[in-house]
Amino acid sequence: MSSVVVTAIGELTTHDPELGTLHGAAVVAEAGAITWVGPAAHAPAADRRIDVGGRAVVPGFVDSHTHLVFAGDRAAEFAARMRGERYDGGGIASTVAGTRAADDATLRALLAARVAECRAQGTTTVEIKSGYGLTVADEERALRLASEVTSEVTFLGAHVVPAGAARDDYVALVTGPMLAACARHARWIDVFCEPASPHAFDGDEARAVLDAGRTAGLELRVHGNQLGPGPGVALAVELGAASVDHCTYLTDADVDALAGGDTVATLLPGVEFSTRSPYPDARRLLDAGVAVALASDCNPGTCASSSIPLMIALAVREMDLTPAEALYAATAGAARALRRTDVGVLAPGNRADLTVIDAPSHLHLAYRPGVPLAHALDLMPDARR
Ligand code: NIG
Ligand code: FE
Repeated sequence: MSSVVVTAIGELTTHDPELGTLHGAAVVAEAGAITWVGPAAHAPAADRRIDVGGRAVVPGFVDSHTHLVFAGDRAAEFAARMRGERYDGGGIASTVAGTRAADDATLRALLAARVAECRAQGTTTVEIKSGYGLTVADEERALRLASEVTSEVTFLGAHVVPAGAARDDYVALVTGPMLAACARHARWIDVFCEPASPHAFDGDEARAVLDAGRTAGLELRVHGNQLGPGPGVALAVELGAASVDHCTYLTDADVDALAGGDTVATLLPGVEFSTRSPYPDARRLLDAGVAVALASDCNPGTCASSSIPLMIALAVREMDLTPAEALYAATAGAARALRRTDVGVLAPGNRADLTVIDAPSHLHLAYRPGVPLAHALDLMPDARR
């Protein structure tokens, strides 16, 4: 197996408490894993050498929340929102229709292109949800396709109640036959818990979905408190979910629960940007000691961007995170939201997922928004992340 040294790293952000940030550094990797990190002058010999010419290197971005399996777009819905229309989840139905109508080859190609787009912008781990099928066969297919490109696959049959279905019947389907068909393709189960949306699920329905998922061997994540205050955060913490995502409308009790629990608060500022909504109060969470992650939520409705650098820039500009806090949230924080310790931190033994910034420091991610500076380094081509 051949080894590779990545050298002449101007600024290396490791997020490892002992290694910290290094200047003039090198990383050695073998078989996709880091074997050594330190000053370039002391790097052990390797079979191959990649000189990054003084650029910054950071842990590959971990996008812990995406909905990449879909067909069609909702650009017109976005334009209507920019004219003042409100988002309530109703547009999901149009993506469901487009996705059901696409054949496997088309969906697989769309998904592959989106994963490549993520990687080209520095993302090396991506979570992918179902949720645009909403029948047993269509959800099972979405998860099967997602599992071809990532190990972080999430069953989101409980995205919305599909048109024409009765709520109770649909929850029974999701927790019964749909879960039975889908569980083997997924690691996670998720639910859109949002009483403020007529299409999504209330606290009792969300609890039923999560309980059934756990019984089927899945780990828990929740979409909560996106459109208004609600039970999503409290439920996620009570059930020990790995993450509760959105967290835009939080009470003091929600913040206290998050601070006292083991659930990561994942913030998705691309959604507030693309729905012209108020941003979550990230400082309130960080100051309370809550573990925070940053992800894209890339989906055709509320955020059609897969750019983690954009999310970092928004977190810095709109949510008062420092550039270092935002980068941490999009790497180590998001890894924690996926209960992963092998990514998000560059240290011996971890995955050799390195992202190069075409700039001397990580500050440029927020300082130069919209400029394509970040790229994942291909040390060991491996499609499954
Ligand atoms: O995370 N909140 C629910 N689901 C997605 C939006 C999906 C859509 O509108 O297509 C979200 O924002
Ligand atoms: Fe989402």
